[in-house]
Amino acid sequence: MPSKLQKTDPKVFAIIKAEEKRQEENLSLIPSENFFSPAVRKAVGSVVMHKYSEGNVGQRYYEGNENIDELEQLAIDRALKLFRTPKSWGANVQALSGSNANLAVYLAVLDIGDTMMGMYLPDGGHLSHGWSYEPKKTPDPNDLVYEGGSRRVHITSKIFKTVQYKTDPKTRQFDYAEIERIAMKYKPKLIITGGTAYPRDIKYRWIKQIAKKAGALYMADIAHEAGLVAAGVIPSPVGIADIVTMTTHKTLRSGRGAIILAHEDLIKKINRAVLPGLQGGPHNHNIAGICVGLGEALKPNFKRYAQQVVLNAKALAAELSKYDFQLVAGGADKHLILIDLTNKPILGKKFARALALAGIVANFNTMPQETRSPADPSALRVGTPWVTTRGMKQAQMPRIARWMNEVMDIITPWADLPFDKFEEQVKNSKKITKIAKEVKQLCKKYPLDF
Ligand SMILES: Cc1ncc(COP(=O)(O)O)c(C=O)c1O
Repeated sequence: MPSKLQKTDPKVFAIIKAEEKRQEENLSLIPSENFFSPAVRKAVGSVVMHKYSEGNVGQRYYEGNENIDELEQLAIDRALKLFRTPKSWGANVQALSGSNANLAVYLAVLDIGDTMMGMYLPDGGHLSHGWSYEPKKTPDPNDLVYEGGSRRVHITSKIFKTVQYKTDPKTRQFDYAEIERIAMKYKPKLIITGGTAYPRDIKYRWIKQIAKKAGALYMADIAHEAGLVAAGVIPSPVGIADIVTMTTHKTLRSGRGAIILAHEDLIKKINRAVLPGLQGGPHNHNIAGICVGLGEALKPNFKRYAQQVVLNAKALAAELSKYDFQLVAGGADKHLILIDLTNKPILGKKFARALALAGIVANFNTMPQETRSPADPSALRVGTPWVTTRGMKQAQMPRIARWMNEVMDIITPWADLPFDKFEEQVKNSKKITKIAKEVKQLCKKYPLDF
């Protein structure tokens, strides 16, 4: 029987079906992606999306919010329980995304012109931590601090003074003594940790000490690692940092959105920054998805999932090393691996496209001491949250690494071609098509349901 969507809008129905097939038949190694349970998706598609509920639980600007109040309170309670927050802490679950959550924190604790300090973007930081740059100017790799440039890409760099700390050129890990030196020099009002491509754990207690010494608040953005932190498989900044922000759709596997955790006094300010400061009505359907996902994450199975994500990442990292793929910072402590491709004939952009045509979806990325543009950088970023949700374990990782190496070997003769000619060669390659078929077979054994 055709569904209602199929009848009313066959075009959109067909696009969604095609995307379903793409997700089923390809291996997503993008560390920021995951897929959600049918229960989460059902909640996200539910009638709660119809309701306007500006305000907070028990204090709304619209009538008829008794059910929404119950839903949002349940999501807050589950978030506080899952992240084992101190008793005096509260949560905000209304920010529409990780970027909005971060902006809400800045709006709550900073004034225009204040200084904020975060991780350098090419070394794994996030845009929303204050990114700006100077076009056509590569910073000195030995200078471990970056003051940004005239191209103020992110709104944070337009309204705040932003300064970023870089990784050590030798270890490609953060040098905490250096971060302290920078913090004492610039005296930021807010210090931020967290990023999109830093494969190692962060020393939260050390950063908190630095922030205290410099007179700054400390915000830990655990957008990527939230699920691993919740499950207790990597260290948690909760109770150490002053504020913790996260996305809900990555390792936390709870539908799209964000959570902010902080002491009640700060949360009150943050609530006001979310609304009326930044947003209008909360997306109640996303809050419903988050609530269901948090409920799932509170069950013992989730801990096993999170443990497996890390085991898989370590196994994949070890296998990739066997093929002389250079791992930035020497390996993986959590769910993601950054591969420095400068010892290979093909760099991130072409490799990512060739892998995608072979059914392995990853993303090109900058890396520490990057000398190229973010649109065509030196590295490739891979991760294991999605394949682990599919049910894959360490035993499947050697095969994935082998395919990646085979793809590199196949495309090597086309290294010097311009991108469109290169892509044409890859599309016509029988060897690439053969790998895509093998990937599809593996995917069939691990369907997208759990
Ligand atoms: C560390 C970090 N912070 C914030 C965000 C932004 O999240 P969103 O894409 O939901 O705005 C991301 C997204 O990848 C991230 O990795």
